[in-house]
Amino acid sequence: MYKIVIDTDPGIDDAQAIAFSIAHPQIALLGLTTVFGNATVEITTQNALAILETFGHSHIPVAQGAAVPLHQTRRPSPDFVHGQDGLGNLNLPKPANKPAALSAAEFIVQQANAHPGQITVVAIGPLTNIALALQLDPELPSKLHELVVMGGTVSAPGNVTPLAEANFISDPHAADEVLAHDWPLSIIGLDVTLQTLVTDTHLRLIRDGAGIMGEFLWNSSRFYANFYTEHLRAAGQLPANDESAFPMHDASAVVYLVERNAYGMCCGSARVIHDGLAVGQLAIDQASPAHRAPGWQNRPTVQAAMQVDAARTIDTFVDTLINNPASIPAD
Ligand code: RIB
Ligand code: CA
Repeated sequence: MYKIVIDTDPGIDDAQAIAFSIAHPQIALLGLTTVFGNATVEITTQNALAILETFGHSHIPVAQGAAVPLHQTRRPSPDFVHGQDGLGNLNLPKPANKPAALSAAEFIVQQANAHPGQITVVAIGPLTNIALALQLDPELPSKLHELVVMGGTVSAPGNVTPLAEANFISDPHAADEVLAHDWPLSIIGLDVTLQTLVTDTHLRLIRDGAGIMGEFLWNSSRFYANFYTEHLRAAGQLPANDESAFPMHDASAVVYLVERNAYGMCCGSARVIHDGLAVGQLAIDQASPAHRAPGWQNRPTVQAAMQVDAARTIDTFVDTLINNPASIPAD
């Protein structure tokens, strides 16, 4: 059983990752920690609470985290991707629950101490909270089971600049700091998520088979699917006559936990560039440790996903949601 905490900026695809983690029988979701990113942290926190209430899981705690990046000013919210409310302009009613008293960083450290060696943190927003948790407890990497990060790209085109992915460019200092520490760390970036296209056919199966969760994922993904379909067609990554589709960004980081063999990984020491034209770029020195370049030496080896069996991971995503006992309507 994976005991996980999701650090998140919900976020339409964040909601998909949260739904999958609740639905999967081998995953226990112990909490959500929130960060700015797809919207302000006040909005992402309200969204996290509202998503859990909609899914009937309001007992799962939500701890609010960073409102701004470590050193730079916050980039404008990408409302053209996630809507003004961060959830496809669904404008959900205000949740009844409130966030926990602990900050996101405190919550992560508390969970790591309460379950030594057992917690997997899945970070699917800017990495600010993870960097703040490291400041609170520099021993954190040795206390976690694993850290899985959705962010960056090694060779696929970036989704903010030609080199940069949204989560890493939103706080490149935090991302570089996190990659400097020696955790069991896996990066699930655009190299694989852009190959993993969820179509409307998949979403209809989820809508019709996954109860309230399915209905929510269908409704919230309409705005996102429209944006990505146009974007992918303009980039020549989706044929004009193909149905609507969007990349499975955040859910891929959770699916990775239960489908390791579907991913091909590369290894090396990693940096995230934090200034200049390449700001936000994930750069990996794949040479053996003895032959690494200055600046990449004395950094741990991390692994980043470069290949994926996309049909398999999408099947796992869809099947898990529609086979979730909580999703099957009683008759
Ligand atoms: O680049 C994809 C990431 O940026 C995802 O975490 C998505 O939620 C967006 O914020
Ligand atoms: Ca996200």
